[in-house]
Amino acid sequence: MSHLTIRIIPAEVLRQVAQPVTDIDKRVAKFMEDLAETMYKGNGIGLAANQVGSLERIIAVDVSEERNGKGALLMANPEVIWSDPVETFTYNEGCLSIPGHYANVTRPKRIRMTYLDPRGKKQELEAEDLLSQCIQHEIDHLNGVLFIDHLSKLKRDMILKKIEKERKEEEGHIL
Ligand code: NI
Repeated sequence: MSHLTIRIIPAEVLRQVAQPVTDIDKRVAKFMEDLAETMYKGNGIGLAANQVGSLERIIAVDVSEERNGKGALLMANPEVIWSDPVETFTYNEGCLSIPGHYANVTRPKRIRMTYLDPRGKKQELEAEDLLSQCIQHEIDHLNGVLFIDHLSKLKRDMILKKIEKERKEEEGHIL
C-alpha cells in the first residue's frame, strides 16, 4: 500500500467533477486501499479521490472508534438514492483539504445509498447521523463541492481570507 498526497485548497482538482468508475479492476481496488490508508494517516474519517488528485468516483469512510481498517467503507460510484426530507443533523465539519478550519454544517439526517465495493459488488447502505454526514461530505467532493460551500457567503469568505493569509505567511518562510 502507498500513501497518496492530499491536495489542499485552492487545488483545482478539488473543484472538478469525478467520473464514474466503469470497472473495478486490480488497479482500482488498490487505489481504494491506498485512499483508506491515506485517510487513516491524516486522521480523517473520510477521504475522496479528488483530494488525492484522482477524478474517479471513489471515497473511503471510517467513523468507527477502532479505526483499524475493519470498519472502513471503500466505495466506488456512491449514489444517494434517498435522503431524509424532514430531519437534519448538524456537525462541526473539517476537511483534510482545508486544514485547520471547521464549521457547523447541516445535512439530511439519514440517507440510503448504493455503491460498488472493492470486489465490484453492488451494495446498499442506510446511514444516519455522523456516517450519513461523512458520506454526504465525501460525495460532495466527487462533485467538486466543499463543506465551506454550505456556509453563508460571509462565513465562507472569512475562511477563504484566512487561508489566503496563511498561504502568504507560509510563502514568506521559504528561504
Ligand atoms: Ni473533505
